[in-house]
Amino acid sequence: MDSRTIALIRTTFKAVAAEDGGSERLSRSFYSILFTDYPGVRDYFPAAMDSQRDRLVGAISYALDRLEEPDKLLPFLAQLGRDHRKYGVQPSHYVAVANSLKSALQQFAGTEMWSDEVAMAWDEGLATISGAMISAAEKETTPACWTARVLERREILRNLSIVRIKLDQPMEYAAGQYVSVQIPARPRMWRYLSPANPANEHGEIEFHVRSVMGGWVSPAMVAHTQVGDQWLVGSPLGGLGVPRNAKRKMLMIACGTGIAPLRAQLMSMAQRRVNPKVHLFVGGHHPCDLYDLAVLNQLAEANKWLTVTPVSEHDDNPWWYFDDGGPKPDLSSLEPRMTGQIGKVVASYGSWADRDVQIVGSPSMVQTTKFRLMAAGTQAKSIRHDPLF
Ligand SMILES: Cc1cc2nc3c(=O)[nH]c(=O)nc-3n(C[C@H](O)[C@H](O)[C@H](O)COP(=O)(O)OP(=O)(O)OC[C@H]3O[C@@H](n4cnc5c(N)ncnc54)[C@H](O)[C@@H]3O)c2cc1C
Ligand code: HEM
Repeated sequence: MDSRTIALIRTTFKAVAAEDGGSERLSRSFYSILFTDYPGVRDYFPAAMDSQRDRLVGAISYALDRLEEPDKLLPFLAQLGRDHRKYGVQPSHYVAVANSLKSALQQFAGTEMWSDEVAMAWDEGLATISGAMISAAEKETTPACWTARVLERREILRNLSIVRIKLDQPMEYAAGQYVSVQIPARPRMWRYLSPANPANEHGEIEFHVRSVMGGWVSPAMVAHTQVGDQWLVGSPLGGLGVPRNAKRKMLMIACGTGIAPLRAQLMSMAQRRVNPKVHLFVGGHHPCDLYDLAVLNQLAEANKWLTVTPVSEHDDNPWWYFDDGGPKPDLSSLEPRMTGQIGKVVASYGSWADRDVQIVGSPSMVQTTKFRLMAAGTQAKSIRHDPLF
């Protein structure tokens, strides 16, 4: 795609989506056109459509930002295309999505901005995105989705459970990747979860799930998952991971259940003979949010290349931690616990200029931490995180 085509696409998208509430408006209009012009497509989507967290339009925006970086964009689209097989998506649906998105954009861009040249640029951009997804899906030989049985649900905190499942057939995912999951109580509401262990031949996966207040799915996962429930799991996604021959030292930063994909990578690295030095900062609001410290300390004790520093925003635990008689995680640690906002604490150690960095947590935590590190001297290109939509 030439630079003029890319510039035309970006300018229209920015003009429509960048202003306050623009992205949400675009998303709402896109779905209303899609479901009106192609009513058959409605059945593929969940009953409740929350435009605030629309990931389809979010992914298109993410892709548009990377049109000049095919080495990053194409693997991302290929993963997404393989994962979309779980919805039963057909190539003709991509035409419906592209046409509806174009109509929505045209409506907000207005006649002055929406020229024939702009329309053609969008045709080319959306054909690139759809083509990459369709061709990866067509080539894939693994299942469109895996079925799994719940083996165990362990309540760690009143708002956090560890759920272990066994897939009907093993899945080859790289430690650090995430998957989308559907539970029987919430049909068609797929949510991303990160395996906290490397892939194994038994197809066993451990998930750490936090209940988000007011959320549709996570409270049900955390509180009502029963042994024997059947879950569906989509194809692996994401590009976090440490290659076998990695030489550069690593800095890993996680908050809450964000520890899961980093823990999986550390466990996988522990099976190798040689590793670069890794400093892991694991954080949470309260000390009790550092629920996995015992495992992380065991890893650090057995592997001299690993240092684990716990960080909590507050010094004390919340009132309910003392009140409820539930199980209590082991919070003792090899390194002294630091108190403060995690990005600030990590940046106070220096520039980390010699490290490859991974950050995992909520979108706001990732953005703030990235900002703090860059202000301290870390190069943006050394920092990796999953897409924030
Ligand atoms: C790459 C990736 C990996 C993930 N891995 C895990 C994991 O291993 N374990 C895990 O527990 N979760 C993980 N999540 C988050 C998970 O996918 C869901 O977004 C989360 O469980 C909320 O789903 P819900 O249906 O309960 O809330 P929704 O119904 O989707 O959202 C309800 C409201 O809560 C807000 N909200 C959603 N998520 C959060 C949040 N984290 N903090 C604050 N507000 C929020 C929404 O904006 C919305 O307003 C991951 C997300 C991503 C993108
Ligand atoms: C044009 C390229 C497309 C992109 C970039 C895209 C991207 C995404 C992303 C990132 C998600 C979030 C969850 C996930 O990863 O599965 C999603 C969800 C979804 N997509 Fe797509 N998608 C595209 C095309 C399509 C098409 C053609 C269909 C067919 C109808 C479709 C149907 C769905 C459905 C049903 C969901 C779930 C919605 C939800 O959970 O709210 N997508 N899409």
